Amino acid sequence: MCGIVGYAGDKNVESVLIVGLIGLEYRGYDSAGIAVLDRGEIQVRKQKGKIKDLENYLKEHPIRGNVGIGHTRWATHGEPNQINAHPHTDSKSTVAVVHNGIIENYSELRQELKQKGFVFHSMTDTEVLPNLLAESRKRGLSNKDAFLELFNRVHGKWAIAVVFDNEPDRVYFAQDGAPLLLGRGKEEYYLASDISPLTRNCREVYYINSKEWGYFAKTECKIFGFDGSEKEFEFKTQDIKFEDVDKGGYPHYMIKEIHEQPGIFRRIIQSRISEAGEIEFPESTISREMMSKVNRIIIQAAGTSYYAGMLGKHYLENFAKIQTDTETSSEFRYRNPVVEGDTLIVGISQSGETADTLASLLEAKAKFIKVLSLVNNVNSTIARESDSFIRTDAGPEIGVASTKAFTAQVINLLLFSLYVARLKWIVSDDELKTLIEEIRLLPGKMERILAQAHILENWAADFTKTKDFVFLGRTYNHPVALEGALKLKEVSYIHASGYAGGEFKHGPIALITNEVPVVCIATKSEIYSKMLSNIQEIKARNGIMISIVTEGDKEAKELSDYCFEVPECPEILSPILNVLPLQLLAYYSAVARGCPPDQPRNLAKSVTVE
Ligand code: G6P
Repeated sequence: MCGIVGYAGDKNVESVLIVGLIGLEYRGYDSAGIAVLDRGEIQVRKQKGKIKDLENYLKEHPIRGNVGIGHTRWATHGEPNQINAHPHTDSKSTVAVVHNGIIENYSELRQELKQKGFVFHSMTDTEVLPNLLAESRKRGLSNKDAFLELFNRVHGKWAIAVVFDNEPDRVYFAQDGAPLLLGRGKEEYYLASDISPLTRNCREVYYINSKEWGYFAKTECKIFGFDGSEKEFEFKTQDIKFEDVDKGGYPHYMIKEIHEQPGIFRRIIQSRISEAGEIEFPESTISREMMSKVNRIIIQAAGTSYYAGMLGKHYLENFAKIQTDTETSSEFRYRNPVVEGDTLIVGISQSGETADTLASLLEAKAKFIKVLSLVNNVNSTIARESDSFIRTDAGPEIGVASTKAFTAQVINLLLFSLYVARLKWIVSDDELKTLIEEIRLLPGKMERILAQAHILENWAADFTKTKDFVFLGRTYNHPVALEGALKLKEVSYIHASGYAGGEFKHGPIALITNEVPVVCIATKSEIYSKMLSNIQEIKARNGIMISIVTEGDKEAKELSDYCFEVPECPEILSPILNVLPLQLLAYYSAVARGCPPDQPRNLAKSVTVE
């Protein structure tokens, strides 16, 4: 989704902004632009396409200066083109604005401004912002007062960065519901809509709160509330290093992040399980008293996080014995669900910024329902708006298609379920001990799977022309089948659907021909024999059989055209291992088909619009 950067200091702002925008590329975008204060004049350069296109354009039309703002746009209002790209200015170029989020009442504001003689060029909601500011200034208001007036006039969730021609040293900024943070360097300040562009130059950051605004120049930075009062604020040292958001020698973030998973698991196991075998969630304020009152949990999430949530339902019902429903936030919030006082809402979000998930959590809070979130970005809006949060601890995830965040969400949901079961005294010492021993073995088993990545690379080469894929799994591996299908379609654009094995014969089996590969997740479990039946039904219809089986399983292997073996583990942990070959299959399919795995078309890393 859209990204914002800003800078004031001594460096050449053109290159600082370009490097910052490159840091935001992973979020997904279709055009980019910058506005620079060049000797008292606002100069704007923007282009449809990639940052490379903007860079090439800047080579022909360079700008000089030390203060400016930049943007990557993911089209919502109006197609991706140069006119709709940000920054937007008023007709006289006295003010330039970049904007994330949506201005809900833009159409009324546009009408009002048109009647006053303001001219619009783009289809965007953003263009009302520079015109509103220009209109206020025309009435004699200072930049500060024009800014304050703006906050009362626009509705929606947004973040903006602004430069004015008559204040050539300053960048203004504000946010109301969309993330924005400041970075402090040596005699320089940076602005960005997420941490990645700041990791290279700033050790100190400040997460701007909702309804805060301010400005910065080379050596000063001020923050105010929407009521105009100045606020005290403090920069904090941030722990994300540049290496964390670098490709580290891999050709793409997606494959780097897939290979990071064993290390992430080691870290999570070390931080969540004490030497004595007790599970700990020190960051959450969930108490025994509170959990013993909860009689229902509703998990809210979107995309891959939703599939992790489906596993969360299994774990919470199995261990914590709490009735749990998992629902996509985009549906949940519009269907007037019955939610009572003893319900706990659990929001799962890698980014912590997904608009649908945030909206349903806020609605729950408005009904006095307690909200706990599982977030990878602990400084995110969802973390801040929740009553309590749990860290996913996967480290920054840059590839648009979620991989390491998924497995980290799953293990945290399992550990959380065991933690609650422990609080309620309903899991025995022996059961917990055995399970923890198995959990401790996971990183090594994950490594053994990833060491065989070349097998999936070879398979992917056979499917470059394939149009449809089917994924089947049952119980714990049903969400894995759905996630495997989502991953493949997200990055390789091959149409793929996931089904519960038992539902397959109730319709989808009609899809099977000798051109359709079917991935069956058939590792050893209580329903292994049922998965074997699926395999046989598909073979009988000449489908191309790809199976994921437990090491040493000859039966399923004999029936398969392609077979990948994973190390044995208890069924409840099997999703964590079984999803790895599916992530690899998706990645290598994208590469084999010439698709960009880190930035698939039309997708955004965090969907901050509903
Ligand atoms: C977008 C991404 C998906 C992601 C989903 C939920 O649609 O493309 O990969 O799973 O958002 O994101 P979240 O940050 O809330 O987990």
